Amino acid sequence: MPKHFFILLGTRPEAIKLFPVINRLKAENRKDISLTICATAQHRQLLDQVLKLAKVVPDFDLNVMTANQTLDHLTARLLGEVGELLEKVKPTRVIVQGDTATAMAGALASYYHRIPVSHIEAGLRSGDIFSPWPEEVNRKIVGSIADQHFAPTERAARALRSENVSDDRIHVTGNTVVDALILAKAMVESDPGLAGRWDGIKKRHGNRRIILVTCHRRENFGGGVINIVNALETILRREDVAVVLPVHPNPNVRDLFASRLSDHPRVVLISPQEYTDFVSLLSLSHLVLTDSGGVQEEAPTFGKPVLVMRDTTERPEGVEAGTARLVGANYDRIVAETFRLLDDDETYAAMARSHNPFGDGHASERIVKVLLNA
Ligand code: UD1
Ligand code: UDP
Repeated sequence: MPKHFFILLGTRPEAIKLFPVINRLKAENRKDISLTICATAQHRQLLDQVLKLAKVVPDFDLNVMTANQTLDHLTARLLGEVGELLEKVKPTRVIVQGDTATAMAGALASYYHRIPVSHIEAGLRSGDIFSPWPEEVNRKIVGSIADQHFAPTERAARALRSENVSDDRIHVTGNTVVDALILAKAMVESDPGLAGRWDGIKKRHGNRRIILVTCHRRENFGGGVINIVNALETILRREDVAVVLPVHPNPNVRDLFASRLSDHPRVVLISPQEYTDFVSLLSLSHLVLTDSGGVQEEAPTFGKPVLVMRDTTERPEGVEAGTARLVGANYDRIVAETFRLLDDDETYAAMARSHNPFGDGHASERIVKVLLNA
């Protein structure tokens, strides 16, 4: 039976985590397999940056992003537009990734059109529907619709089983972010231009320890982001550190970082980075402060300790492996744990182990095998 896969992606992390799967499916070059790639463009610039680097050209672009979009309007728009397109394209299967509004609305639209759904990065749960918000519920909605669940880890598979998903529908594959990371590292290593990208920062701050910071989570908007900026200012009183912060374009974080940190001599505020450049930044940093899901999954490959600026994580494998620690968007804990890592070599060494519990770089291979043979 010919198969027609419809791959839906909307945001930066979806593009990063799906391009290895897209490449692999294309490389199969089979007559009985067709592929439609649809970008919802829930993100515009952040998505385009990854698609260009990965040389992925979508067949459809719904261009839904509006400035400072609300969850309700974004979701309604996605549902309508994806539904209309599914009616036209009539794929045999829809593939979504993760927990974004795009993934959730895409799964729901597929259900309304009675098209089966495969869920990549299935089964991550924090147990708290408000953290991550709205991703915990988004991911659960996708999980309740999908009939093929690609769980990155055994823990994620267990969570699905405990929700009565039958075993034959769960495939433990590893997270495709590790596949993407390996591809990006290879690109950096083979291109002196990319490898030398941060020579300026190294020259200026080389004897300082570089703290890489990313922050964009909706549940941290307002008080949480203010606590984070206050904590960074305190940490920056030390002369021996520099902060590098690629700023997410969401106006709820962008404007605050710009107004509070842009004049500091030891803060490097930069625009969102090409994936390859971000990967190089990770490798030269001393430690990472982040509320990002993907960055939590990537840092252990480089043996970089991660302080997770969230109260819960749906990715506890890093915490369990000892390479990540939850500090919330809490001023005292961010400052105390950062100082501990800067001042206590034993604590640092214990967290700086280079082992990635999220994947081995072969996730897309496993996923494509299942997709083709199901
Ligand atoms: C979204 C996802 C979140 C994911 C994050 C990755 C949802 C509900 N949220 O959050 O799960 O962790 O992406 O980054 O799906 N913007 C731009 N240009 C861009 C991207 C965003 O200007 O390329 C601005 C726009 O003003 C936009 C706003 O950021 O309205 C928010 O974008 P949105 O996708 O709704 O939420 P994120 O916070 O980015
Ligand atoms: N990333 C990037 N450039 C940047 C910051 C992050 O390419 O300037 C990558 C990062 O390596 C990771 C992904 O973006 O793979 C994480 O995206 P984000 O933090 O926006 O979303 P989340 O993972 O929290 O959903």
